[in-house]
Amino acid sequence: MTMAIHPYDALMNITTRPNVVFVRGEGSWLWDDSGKRYLDFIQGWAVNCLGHAPPAVADALATQARRLLTPSPAYYNDMSLRLAKAMIANSCFDQVFFTNSGAEANEGAIKLARKFGALHLNGAHEIITFEGGFHGRTLATMSASGKKAFEPLFEPKVPGFPKALLNDLASVERLISDKTTAVMLEPIQGEAGVWPATDQFLQQLRALTKAHGLLLIVDEIQTGMGRTGKLFHYEHAGITPDIMTLGKGIGGGVPLAALLATEEAACFEHGDQGGTFNGNPLMCAAGLAVVDQVAKPDFLKSAAETGLFLESELQRISARHGLGDVRGRGLLLALDLKLPVAPAIVAQAFEQGLLLNAPRPDTLRFMPALNVSREETSQMIEQLDAILIKAGTARRVA
Ligand SMILES: Cc1ncc(COP(=O)(O)O)c(C=O)c1O
Repeated sequence: MTMAIHPYDALMNITTRPNVVFVRGEGSWLWDDSGKRYLDFIQGWAVNCLGHAPPAVADALATQARRLLTPSPAYYNDMSLRLAKAMIANSCFDQVFFTNSGAEANEGAIKLARKFGALHLNGAHEIITFEGGFHGRTLATMSASGKKAFEPLFEPKVPGFPKALLNDLASVERLISDKTTAVMLEPIQGEAGVWPATDQFLQQLRALTKAHGLLLIVDEIQTGMGRTGKLFHYEHAGITPDIMTLGKGIGGGVPLAALLATEEAACFEHGDQGGTFNGNPLMCAAGLAVVDQVAKPDFLKSAAETGLFLESELQRISARHGLGDVRGRGLLLALDLKLPVAPAIVAQAFEQGLLLNAPRPDTLRFMPALNVSREETSQMIEQLDAILIKAGTARRVA
């Protein structure tokens, strides 16, 4: 039915999607146009930190839409100033540049690091990134990514991104030269399948970059805004990076992202950076509503506790079905299935009204709303358990 009434062909065919059209969301739940309800453990790829259509964000957007949409990036607006102040007050950074997507924030970080190299490191421009890393889909951020599937695409790549191995300090040291200006990484490689950098590696990387006068850039587009149980992941390791990028959670569902830098690293000059919608008050009003809730210690404590509950439940499921490790932190977790059955499990879950993600054929990723309830978490676990029982039986029968 949906097929007949929706003009699917009018959208560019960039990926495989089920023939279902979502029309409404509330908290941990989504509804399609036939009225079927889905329990959502994807949440727009770790975007909706407060769940679907959170009242605080909806109210902030409605109020701001009537006040001021876009005065022009050539003028200050109150919402971007207030949000920048809140971000600085809650982090180790001194200045912010707002963007419309994570990739754009990372482009900004890359430009900032190259500018820093031009100003302070004799024109050094290389940024050491990591195998398995994911930084976005613009040409430069695809080049910075260490995703195998990107390698043959859109050649030639933007040069200047030598790749090291996560949690292998020597591999980083080997790549440092007089051309290096920065090291950039995701504290947890999300798209690659939730592979965490250890706290020790992050600390060593901070010491190494400091010793060489290089910038440390953390891409917290997926790990930031409470996703790992602290407001920013770098806090777990007790380090202070020079540059951080945020996206996804910061807008609570709307396109908002940010580039944050310390005073020393924030070296853009007039003409270096800008954009029509950057820091527009509508998106910043949503960001303020998000930060207001997510930065509260009680909210973060509760998200961290829910993360521990989900982790222990996944470990229980893993032990029961003879599966592999549970990886990640807070509410960014992965279950290693040890067999390439994740897409089939995701498809079965979808049929049953449960949204799960398979970043790799053998891995399920869980990134629910940070305010997902215990009951909703237990319901997801029960459904997954039932699907795994069925899949196990089917495997044995086959
Ligand atoms: C770590 C990381 N960096 C960058 C991006 C790109 O963000 P966006 O899709 O908003 O451009 C993503 C998106 O998944 C991400 O997970």
